[in-house]
Amino acid sequence: MNVEAVINVDLDGPRISRHLYGHFAEHLGRCVYGGFYVGEDAGVRHADGIRLDVVEALRELNIPNLRWPGGCFADEYHWRDGIGPKDERPVMVNTHWGGVEENNHFGTHEFMALCELLGAEPYISGNVGSGTVREMSEWVEYLTRDGDSPMARLRKANGRDEPWPVRFWGLGNEAWGCGGNMTAEHYAQEARRYGTYCRDYGDNKLYKIAAGANSADYAWTETLMKQVGHLGCRHVRSTGYEALSVHYYTLTGPTWEEKGSATDFDTDEYYRTMVAAARIEEILAGHAAVMDCYDPGRSVGLVLDEWGTWFDVEPGTNPGFLYQQNTVRDALVASVHFDVFHRFAGRLVMANIAQTVNVLQAMLLTDPQTGALVRTPTYHVFRMNRGHQDATALRVDVRAPLPSRRVGDATLTTVSLSASRKDGRLLVSLSNLDAVSAADLEIDLRGGVVGGLEAQILTSGAPTDHNTPESPSVVTPRPYDGVSVAGGTLRVHLPVHSFVTVSGAL
Ligand code: AHR
Repeated sequence: MNVEAVINVDLDGPRISRHLYGHFAEHLGRCVYGGFYVGEDAGVRHADGIRLDVVEALRELNIPNLRWPGGCFADEYHWRDGIGPKDERPVMVNTHWGGVEENNHFGTHEFMALCELLGAEPYISGNVGSGTVREMSEWVEYLTRDGDSPMARLRKANGRDEPWPVRFWGLGNEAWGCGGNMTAEHYAQEARRYGTYCRDYGDNKLYKIAAGANSADYAWTETLMKQVGHLGCRHVRSTGYEALSVHYYTLTGPTWEEKGSATDFDTDEYYRTMVAAARIEEILAGHAAVMDCYDPGRSVGLVLDEWGTWFDVEPGTNPGFLYQQNTVRDALVASVHFDVFHRFAGRLVMANIAQTVNVLQAMLLTDPQTGALVRTPTYHVFRMNRGHQDATALRVDVRAPLPSRRVGDATLTTVSLSASRKDGRLLVSLSNLDAVSAADLEIDLRGGVVGGLEAQILTSGAPTDHNTPESPSVVTPRPYDGVSVAGGTLRVHLPVHSFVTVSGAL
């Protein structure tokens, strides 16, 4: 199948925030405990209990931010339980995720140390569902207030003199569900009330993110947008929140109880997953359209702070731990999402994959027995796409409709691509979702000459292929020679179910 497209390399689109490549770590299954944090007596390399091989692998991705402590867990989390001497921290039950005991050994100081090791900005989700305004307000004071104050003194007594810089602040999570089962109207009021008392101390300026819609619930977004700018009190800087979120998961199965296996799927299921993944375009377009009505100047940010595949857990694992493997199919789900994110970079300010280690569409899987670390196919997409972070998005125009195939009642466009420019280099990302037919692209590069092409490909013999501790590199990027440029035309051959990145000097 031949595809013809045009990229004007000198026509600037919006900046692609590096925060579109953000992450998420919840107290859920083995994400925090066993994933990021192994405790001080662990047999794997660690710094004060934080797993260093995980940190090093994530640093290769330039991970820009990390959302914590949930998810649903955030609305049950009481931050004061997670500070001070570890053996005095109270134990709680993690009622959302497996009903296991949470010993609070990974708390505020441990999370901030993790962010410092990663070089990532913290994104803290505060507790609206079961917390209080005072509790949230004091957490902000504890983290960010310099000088003398009750919470700053408490922080210092716990060993940290300097305040931490914290910008991203979530006002609860999924308030329509696990975050309190609220109506949009009620939550909008709560978000403004909580947001009002989350203060800016010194130079620290919070960027407050209201808990947004589930998938296509555009009415939720509309309600939050109606409330976003009407505080009417001139000496209060904040209107309550600067951004609102949305969550969208790629689900394949017909019901929530039958999500399908992460590794054992047929071609039909593969295509259904791709249809669900591609729907992110419609979802973001819908929320962006509502936001444009109320905020044409785009001062309110849209944050997709949970996205990714959600399959049945691996056989024999705790159903509440959401541990799933990750295949070529997941890699293509990720690459399609990134193409869409780049197109919405004018409104979308952040996105966080769920979740970084050992939960749902993870970057990294750790073996609970041997401690081995595996980089997933999704990890490699994040790595291959690193160059888009903080780059200028470039518009891609296609001359004829892109190839597609019918999947049930839906039409799946099987070629996806996006491009950006940064530091004198062009980066083009291309995916072929078709499991049967290769695709050949001719891209007319206008407005600049591209040289010194470098290309990588991520694919494998079957969409079900994945990496394990025994075979960690089944799906791994390899140098690719199926690209060429001549007379301003970039030619790319895309094998079946493959992801390719092409970069060159401009
Ligand atoms: O990522 C797993 C869960 O999915 C999160 O805790 C919740 O916010 C969402 O429903």
